Amino acid sequence: MDVEKIEKELRKIKDEVLRCQKCVLYQTRTYPVIGEGNHQAKIVFIGEAPGESEDKTGRPFCGAAGKVLDELLNSAGIERTDVYICNILKCRPPENRNPKIEEIEACTPYLLKQIEIIKPKVICTLGNFSTAFIFEKYGLKDKIEGISKIHGNVFEAKTLFGSLKIIPLYHPAAATYNPNMKETLKKDFQILKKI
Ligand code: URA
Ligand code: SF4
Repeated sequence: MDVEKIEKELRKIKDEVLRCQKCVLYQTRTYPVIGEGNHQAKIVFIGEAPGESEDKTGRPFCGAAGKVLDELLNSAGIERTDVYICNILKCRPPENRNPKIEEIEACTPYLLKQIEIIKPKVICTLGNFSTAFIFEKYGLKDKIEGISKIHGNVFEAKTLFGSLKIIPLYHPAAATYNPNMKETLKKDFQILKKI
């Protein structure tokens, strides 16, 4: 796909999300968080759902967890502008509660379309929700385990847009209250340098 087509297709998704009412979360959101970064990124990061700061700005990972993510990217020599960052859910769940199954089902067609348009070589899933969803979608259901077991490992998947590496990582929010976790995340991020 040429750049113009990519822009047009992503724009179409953005317009749809801005008026989306497919689940109850539209009632309490301020702004949906559609995704941000390079539209031809080789690496896509997928978090869970917008938090308070993200809901207020419409930008992914712009609060405390985002600060950790920036530090991790930096430690691996990756610019935020080179990657694409988004979430399983576009709208913030009230009080940051866990996403519900029906919300994930309603929202993720947008995410899957975004992935098909961007066609990344690598998807980094941040936390359990993102990991379970992406593993299931890309034929790795039998490999799903808790993030503490599989973090930092590289999984290979076949997709309609070619081969895809999937790397499950701890959610950066976990490192905001656990310094050991940040070291583990930093170690895992080094893999991105290699591949
Ligand atoms: N946590 C997430 O999972 N995503 C964000 O965008 C911010 C915090
Ligand atoms: Fe629509 Fe997703 Fe927001 Fe639900 S979370 S209203 S499905 S954009």
